[in-house]
Amino acid sequence: MKILGIETSCDETGAAVVINGRHILSNVVVSSLKEHTRYGGVLPEIASRRQLECIQPVVEEALRRARTTLQDIDRIAVTESPGLIGSLLVGISFAGTLSAALKIAYVAVDHVKAHAYANFISPKRDFEQPKLPAVGLVVSGGHTNLYLIRSFKDMTLLGKTRDDAAGEAFDKVARICGLAYPGGPEIDRLSQGVKKGELQFTCAQLPDTLDFSFSGIKTAVLYHVRNDKPLSARSVRQIAFAFQDSVVRTLVSKCLLAARRQKVKTILVGGGVAANSRLRERLKEEALREGLNVYFPPLELCLDNAAMIAGLAYHGRTTSKES
Ligand code: KG4
Ligand code: ZN
Repeated sequence: MKILGIETSCDETGAAVVINGRHILSNVVVSSLKEHTRYGGVLPEIASRRQLECIQPVVEEALRRARTTLQDIDRIAVTESPGLIGSLLVGISFAGTLSAALKIAYVAVDHVKAHAYANFISPKRDFEQPKLPAVGLVVSGGHTNLYLIRSFKDMTLLGKTRDDAAGEAFDKVARICGLAYPGGPEIDRLSQGVKKGELQFTCAQLPDTLDFSFSGIKTAVLYHVRNDKPLSARSVRQIAFAFQDSVVRTLVSKCLLAARRQKVKTILVGGGVAANSRLRERLKEEALREGLNVYFPPLELCLDNAAMIAGLAYHGRTTSKES
């Protein structure tokens, strides 16, 4: 089954063609990110206007790269939620119109769950898909969710952030330190230059739950910066390292706790923060020690893309449960 996926939840316009929920024929993403940088976050008005301009050429390019035509598409998949409403509506209207004109099925996809699905798709013809059941951690700019994934029709939410999402905390801490938006990649890059950590910030642990809280650590960084003015480049690197280290420790320990509790052997990670080099390294190391298999998507599939939307849509609509 050949599925055309469309993703327009935020500032990226994506279109992709994926076969049978696994083989990526094309995956095109354009972003209006640069236009938002000076505002320190995504401006919904600009994002939706760019979506309108980009949607048609991006879909045409995805079809061209997949060497296919609309007549060969079996199903249209589109991000339904969550996201910026103006941006979402561009993709939803475009996909709805295409499906009506072509008289083919239309599947509405949950963007957050699709991030976990990014581990199941590849441009390679032969690759091993992860084995289910698994614990899925989705860490993005808007969400920090832990799921038990028995199948892609059956995902149970085990825990979530009670305040800021992990990516949001990265972005806010970066802003406090005077770094550019989006802050996650900047903090990741600056931390890599630190040989020895001299600071410590702690995340609220919320023991015995699989929930997260990242707003306290963000405030701790804010108070630290207020007392440490003017900030030197060296202290920014130290702050970045200490903040990242604490967030990563928390994410790793909750993933391992969820895997132990649910007695599963596989952990799947997805979302923009899954691109974080320290998280990739630490979770792999810790999981190996406990005999668990950990999967991270390649970097281009961690960030928003339509291939994960087309992939998940192969399984039909996913129902949601809270544990
Ligand atoms: O999944 P995504 O592209 O969009 C949402 O659905 O939110 O995630 C974007 C988030 C941003 O907060 C960004 O700072 C963060 O992912 N991010 C990172 C890294 N790359 C992107 N956070 C930490 N380390 C990174 N290397
Ligand atoms: Zn996302």
